[in-house]
Amino acid sequence: MGEIGIGIIGTGFMGKSHAIAYRAAGGIFPLNNSPVLEMVADNNEAAGLAAHKQLGFRRVTTDWRALVNDPAVHIVSITTPNTLHKEMALAAIAAGKHVHCEKPIAPNASDAKDMLEAAEKAGVKTQVGFNYIKNPVLKLAREMIASGELGDIIGFRGIHAEDYMTDPEGAWSWRLDPKGGGGVIADLGSHIIGMARFMLGPITELFADLETVVPTRPIAPGSTERRAVEVDDIARLTLRFARGCRGSIEANWCATGRKMQLGFEISGTKGALVFSQERFNELRYYKVDGDPRHQGFTTIEAGPAHWPYGLFCVAPGHQIGFNDLKAIEVAEFLASIEGGEVSGPDFREAWEIQKVVDTAIKASLNRHWTSIS
Ligand SMILES: NC(=O)c1ccc[n+]([C@@H]2O[C@H](COP(=O)([O-])OP(=O)(O)OC[C@H]3O[C@@H](n4cnc5c(N)ncnc54)[C@H](O)[C@@H]3O)[C@@H](O)[C@H]2O)c1
Repeated sequence: MGEIGIGIIGTGFMGKSHAIAYRAAGGIFPLNNSPVLEMVADNNEAAGLAAHKQLGFRRVTTDWRALVNDPAVHIVSITTPNTLHKEMALAAIAAGKHVHCEKPIAPNASDAKDMLEAAEKAGVKTQVGFNYIKNPVLKLAREMIASGELGDIIGFRGIHAEDYMTDPEGAWSWRLDPKGGGGVIADLGSHIIGMARFMLGPITELFADLETVVPTRPIAPGSTERRAVEVDDIARLTLRFARGCRGSIEANWCATGRKMQLGFEISGTKGALVFSQERFNELRYYKVDGDPRHQGFTTIEAGPAHWPYGLFCVAPGHQIGFNDLKAIEVAEFLASIEGGEVSGPDFREAWEIQKVVDTAIKASLNRHWTSIS
């Protein structure tokens, strides 16, 4: 068994999650190579030093280029704000490294395409952080749809709603930087768009209404100076899928009281599925036939029957957690680097998702149905 060196850029919410996941994956999954936390980079020196010590990295730097070019780093994990993903990914690809990048992959589809083409030309493996679709019960849901258990699909109703931008006194941050692309349509919308595609395949056309709810925000926490918000706070989309069904998506970061309402309802002629990340160890299933007196949604509880839940816990109903989804994402990426199946979402799939995000922005501005080109 060899070692595979991991270099993580950024030590915030996702930097920590990636570090926990790479540490865990080697112990949980039957991999040939053991991931080691070789180096962490953060331009905030104190944050980098803290992560180095607490998360167990071998080395730390304030210079992400030093990490990318270090011979002991084989995978570069990018967990920085969206505007930085492209430059960092292209440098990592040029250095021959496999790249694990957070979502949304880039500020726009054109940048995403540059990244995808560079990776495919260099022959390196890529993975993008759409961790929620790594849920074992969502793999089951996808299989049930593919096998026809739900019959013909009638419609998709998806939502990703949280409330972290509801307070108008919440300060301006990189998530509102228009150079980073869309607002909530990119930040949360990319997750539910990716989930819709994972379940039902390509989206061909959409109508969208994007709204800015909070027009100005303090430029920094506690500041009286305010800056205009140029991106969307709520995005409402109507969709047409290539398979023929239609659907809707709401992405909303001003949804008072909601902390993690990422989910969907998929209706079919023979049944329906309901999922919410708020109770993500459960999948609710309605079957059309049978005794009408017994009809109603039943709850499928995650357990060892749903791979790879059993690698985390032998007992059903005991539940896995948010960082476990990241560990599954990491393990599947590591397995693909070892020659196994590429389950993605890779840069190509992230580009497809970004095209839907870009089209929603365009459709909202133009106020008409728009094809995803
Ligand atoms: N997959 C998910 O569920 C999920 C959840 C949250 C965020 N994200 C994505 O992860 C990315 C980061 O989000 P976050 O919430 O972790 O942000 P964050 O603000 O918590 O962390 C960003 C980190 O990047 C560092 N950084 C900034 N500029 C840098 C530079 N030039 N060199 C090195 N380090 C630099 C910051 O110091 C910080 O440590 C975004 O793309 C975001 O959309 C994904």
